[in-house]
Amino acid sequence: MNQATIDFAYLATAVCFILSLKLMNSPLTARKGNWTAMIGMAIAIVATMFSPGIRAENLGLIAAVVAIGSIGGYFSAKKIEMTAVPQMVAVLNGLGGGAVALVALFEFLHGSQQGVQPDMVQSVTTVLSAIIGSMSFSGSMIAFAKLQELLPGRPLTFKGQQVFNFLLLVVVLALALAIVAFGQATVPIFVGLLIASLVLGVSGVTPIGGADMPVVISLLNSFTGCAAGLAGFVLMNTALLIGGGLVGASGLILTLLMCTAMNRTLGNVIFGGVGNVVTSSGNSALAGKQPKSYSCEDAAILMTNSNSVVIVPGYGMAVAQAQHQVKEMAGKLMAMGIDVKYAVHPVAGRMPGHMNVLLAEADVPYEQLYELEQINPLFAETDVVLVIGANDVVNPAARYDKGSPIFGMPILDVDKAKTVIVMKRSMGAGFAGVDNELFVMDNCVMVFGNAKSSVAKISTALDQY
Ligand code: TAP
Repeated sequence: MNQATIDFAYLATAVCFILSLKLMNSPLTARKGNWTAMIGMAIAIVATMFSPGIRAENLGLIAAVVAIGSIGGYFSAKKIEMTAVPQMVAVLNGLGGGAVALVALFEFLHGSQQGVQPDMVQSVTTVLSAIIGSMSFSGSMIAFAKLQELLPGRPLTFKGQQVFNFLLLVVVLALALAIVAFGQATVPIFVGLLIASLVLGVSGVTPIGGADMPVVISLLNSFTGCAAGLAGFVLMNTALLIGGGLVGASGLILTLLMCTAMNRTLGNVIFGGVGNVVTSSGNSALAGKQPKSYSCEDAAILMTNSNSVVIVPGYGMAVAQAQHQVKEMAGKLMAMGIDVKYAVHPVAGRMPGHMNVLLAEADVPYEQLYELEQINPLFAETDVVLVIGANDVVNPAARYDKGSPIFGMPILDVDKAKTVIVMKRSMGAGFAGVDNELFVMDNCVMVFGNAKSSVAKISTALDQY
């Protein structure tokens, strides 16, 4: 392929990537967005394979690697549980970062063998992609291990860790400066830089609580994007440059959105040691109060006697995979003339858009989904709110308890409804590890059990009315 055709193919790739981001804005078009990105990536791979710098004898090898990666990706994506997607993103992201670091290393070694002195821009971008790529690789692997419970989820710290990290950062910067200043004659220093960056990735992520990992993964994702963009500079590959830039920017925006929705600053997530697994609650609201326990049949009666029901899904609905039963139950309620809405909190579940994806999977009409700002004013006139496996996102302590880890997080004001039915397995805490006074409020009843079987029982009970 001549350079003009390759440039055109890379342009088409960039258009596909940008379009896919736009399509992924809504659950209705998200699948098309995925396909568009896949087509863009396929165009980029084919164009790269046939670009002038690639030797014909290597084409078979490249095709084999692409096939292995595609088959591995296909089967792991098919097999993965929805609740384990953050771990999968961490691994894929880490591999991306590692690949970028390897590209930087081999470009450096190649230049060194040829005795070519790179210009300043080339040197700086190579060194930066090595640092960011290595940190992203090791940090993502630690994030994966924490989420997969291969490592303890709590922050792993040691005395003087912050000082150690700072000194390590100074070492990394010093090595980077030496490489830029002394050029290609510094192969051992380059290897030292990679090792120090890998250690920095590990020691930067281990002090962060497992509960904050989704935010950290999003940030590392942004790092990998930046590293890939820099590798685009190193390799003079426009597709990599544009793709990396898009991932870097969108990853950072997503990170900040997640922090805002949790009412945390990024600095607080990274350095605050918050997101620890809190085992005891600072909230004494439950002391001495017992929840009212209802059966599924009682809950069904409550709902049939209402005019309006708002369903609030949370992480527990994802764990139980109850979305199809929820849709079926909602259909029966609507057939009785009851108004049904779904209230979706921006950080319900464990990843952005988690509830939207599950509800879309069950074909819940998008018009029935209400965002926090839309639904909160409507709770006061709602007869029944059905909370399915949500906890933190409906905890009233977020409004006033300054000692609570969720203080300041905007919540769904379900406690203002006439009756609240909470479905979960126990009185156990959610992600933030704090008790929820909602469960013992006068207008609240608990239906204990697995969300999937409880919703199915309610649905069966509704058949009698
Ligand atoms: P959580 O507060 O984590 O509560 C989920 C509840 O589901 C638990 O209390 C659990 O109680 C229940 N549960 C678990 N498995 C269940 C099952 N099989 N059947 C029924 N119930 C089950 O969830 P949430 O309200 O969705 O809040 C999300 C939290 O995650 C927030 O604190 C948020 O800040 C955090 N977070 C979210 C994100 C994103 S982007 N979504 C990222 C990072 C952190 P039992 O054990 O008693 O059943």
